[in-house]
Amino acid sequence: MEELVALCKRRGFIFQSNEIYGGLQGLYDYGPLGIELKNNLKQSWWTSMVYDRDDVEGLDASILTHPDVLKHSGHEDTFTDPLVDCKSCGLRFREDQIPDQCKGEELTEPRDFNLMFKTNVGPVDDGSSYAYLRPETAQQIFTNFKNVVDSTSRTLPFGIAQIGKAFRNEITPRNFIFRVREFEQMELEFFVTPGTDDEWHKKWVDSRTKWWIDQGIDSSKIKLLNVTGDDLAHYSKSTIDLMYEFPHGLEELEGIANRTDFDLGSHSKNQDQLNIKATTIANNSSNAKLAVQDISDNSLIVPYVIEPSAGVDRGVLAILNEAYKVEKLDDGKERVVLSFKPHLAPIKAAVIPLKKNNEALVEKAIELKNILQKLRLGRVVVENTGNIGKNYRKHDEVGTPMCITVDFDSLEKQLVTIRNRDTMEQESIDIKLVPDYFRNYFLS
Ligand code: GAP
Repeated sequence: MEELVALCKRRGFIFQSNEIYGGLQGLYDYGPLGIELKNNLKQSWWTSMVYDRDDVEGLDASILTHPDVLKHSGHEDTFTDPLVDCKSCGLRFREDQIPDQCKGEELTEPRDFNLMFKTNVGPVDDGSSYAYLRPETAQQIFTNFKNVVDSTSRTLPFGIAQIGKAFRNEITPRNFIFRVREFEQMELEFFVTPGTDDEWHKKWVDSRTKWWIDQGIDSSKIKLLNVTGDDLAHYSKSTIDLMYEFPHGLEELEGIANRTDFDLGSHSKNQDQLNIKATTIANNSSNAKLAVQDISDNSLIVPYVIEPSAGVDRGVLAILNEAYKVEKLDDGKERVVLSFKPHLAPIKAAVIPLKKNNEALVEKAIELKNILQKLRLGRVVVENTGNIGKNYRKHDEVGTPMCITVDFDSLEKQLVTIRNRDTMEQESIDIKLVPDYFRNYFLS
């Protein structure tokens, strides 16, 4: 983990947030390469969830959330962690995360600590008008259920996908970007006819496992955990956690839950008319029935929900961990390489003029960069620092799949050299063929 954290800072992937003022615990900023990696991961999720399917719509809802939403979702009452104080050092910990040095010390009885951040809304700060920063993106998908059904005429089964920030006042944020207070989720709420939920749950567990493997995660490092007992969330009939061997241990990367009809039922008015199976709290604030009509007998059905919910930041950490390799070279030296899958690589290609101050070479490199950039396959850069060996090492370390060197043969014979990050093999090709080569590489 230390090597990864150091590389992330050195190469501009991830920085401690508010660092020049001493930092703020549990918050991180994504730098020039981190934002590219994160966007590529999110885009890959969106493409597979929304574009490659015909039964999912997208949504981007507000972060600030009406207190009634989080009252009826159960978060106001149950979204808590048990907190203990160490009387010796005065620090507070989650009951299951007490550090070794405090274990023998006198600890207070655990008490519930709500993890939601609250903020004042409007110009009066007297506590009468507040909202929560959403603790999961899911709730605003449920509250928009009727809007999406009415505007798209969707029938069951169908899903609503959303990517966005979520906030939790974690008692002990830790392990780099694994457990933080501000993070992003990629969540799908997939609405199904009650009775088909177990089958859909299984399908989504299989599909999500395959997707992570397609992002470069080694299948042997993934374990499926059937969540039971107190660990099962209040809304869930059954949850499978997709666990990954992070550098600090086997932990949750994504949860795939069967949320039954709890959420749509809880956010509905006139619940007694809806044949809801889950135990919900009566709702006198909502103005909608979140149900669909059964065309066979015109009755109302509250759909069951299967929810694959993945953390973007945990995804980035897992991808970085998989990609990070230190390789011994033939000359006895070592190289660090991030062997990202091409679609995730922050920089797709670096175009390198062999001599940094040679105008003709630099001009040719810029021309080629602009052609490749316009193919819209991701970021392409010109690396104009002169030392070809150092440039190759740098781009190995940030995971650039190809380096294209423009040299004097490029001016005389229209040839460039393409070096492959993983094999380090180099081939000489006609500059006119580079766009096709590049396109085929990233689209195959
Ligand atoms: N809507 C369901 C839900 O929020 P969750 O298991 O609490 O379920 C889903 O969170 C995913 O969000 C987790 O699998 C994890 O990847 C990510 N996540 C949760 N808390 C996090 C935190 N404090 N820091 C980073 N990621 C977190």
